[in-house]
Amino acid sequence: MITQLEQIREKAIERVRSAANLQELEQLRIKYLGKKGELTALLKNMGKLSAEERPVVGQLANSIREKLDSAMKDRTEALSREAMDLRLQEEALDVTIPGKTTELGKKHPMSIVLDETKEIFIGMGFEIAEGPEIETEYYNFTALNTKPGHPARDWQDTFYLREDSSVLLRTQTSPVQVRVMEKKKPPIRIISPGRVYRKDEVDATHSPMFHQIEGLVVDKGITMTDLKGTLVQFVGKLYGPDAKLRFRPHHFPFTEPSCEIDIMCFECRGEGCRVCKGEGWIELLGAGMVHPRVLEGCGIDTDIYSGFAFGIGVERLTMRRFSVSDMRLFFENDIRFLSQF
Ligand code: PHE
Repeated sequence: MITQLEQIREKAIERVRSAANLQELEQLRIKYLGKKGELTALLKNMGKLSAEERPVVGQLANSIREKLDSAMKDRTEALSREAMDLRLQEEALDVTIPGKTTELGKKHPMSIVLDETKEIFIGMGFEIAEGPEIETEYYNFTALNTKPGHPARDWQDTFYLREDSSVLLRTQTSPVQVRVMEKKKPPIRIISPGRVYRKDEVDATHSPMFHQIEGLVVDKGITMTDLKGTLVQFVGKLYGPDAKLRFRPHHFPFTEPSCEIDIMCFECRGEGCRVCKGEGWIELLGAGMVHPRVLEGCGIDTDIYSGFAFGIGVERLTMRRFSVSDMRLFFENDIRFLSQF
């Protein structure tokens, strides 16, 4: 019996020490120490032993139980510690890792200038109007007194969307003038910003897609002085008092008289350079008194009403505002450029 006990001791302690997890430990406890366990079974046979043997075996059995108990306790602790270490490792949180930040973008420089422009005109009593980028020949040309065969209608300049020229990408925001006048009776005071398209070669001041802000005022007694006053006021507010404007006579089919307005080149201050192509001035907008034929076509009585209109180039407006010497920068989406505004 003593040998049996010693065998149990060797084996049981060995197995407890190498138990892989708490379930296995529990199974071992039942196997050896449980009510039907091996050790318990042996002890039940104690009665068969002689009086001399009994205390010796009893003592041995007790010491085995104690050793097993304490081995189990040690192993339980070790296993729990291992489990905890593992969990800590798995759930480790490195508080030194930099946080994930969402980078906030910025307004595009042209949006900044467009917003400033809207503010200024709204301050002068204007409203914002909108029109489609895909236009009909009627609104883009015919209603604007631009006859068939006029060079502005040329297939080389205009992106036509139909073989018969009836639908096109608008070449100017001026068709919005007509759309507004068809719906609204004077007094009219609107600006209308938006994209326009022309088959232009790309260079520092041209792109096949660019932006304009159309302006239209129709009321009783509107004259060229109102046009001049409004634009001088606008440019002064946007650029400050030293911005110099130059009014040049020009021709547009839908205004009479017409003019182009240049701003002194911000790069060379009138000397002539690459940006202004040696001119010293940069064309900023076209304008004029709305042609009576355009007004009448929209049902406006020219005996009572007159009006002025203008179309400003937003890219050039923005170039001057921030001294940007190449328009292409606005379209390249280079963060190094855009983050400066
Ligand atoms: N639409 C003209 C252009 O694109 C500009 C303009 C607008 C001229 C309004 C006169 C009046 O060149």
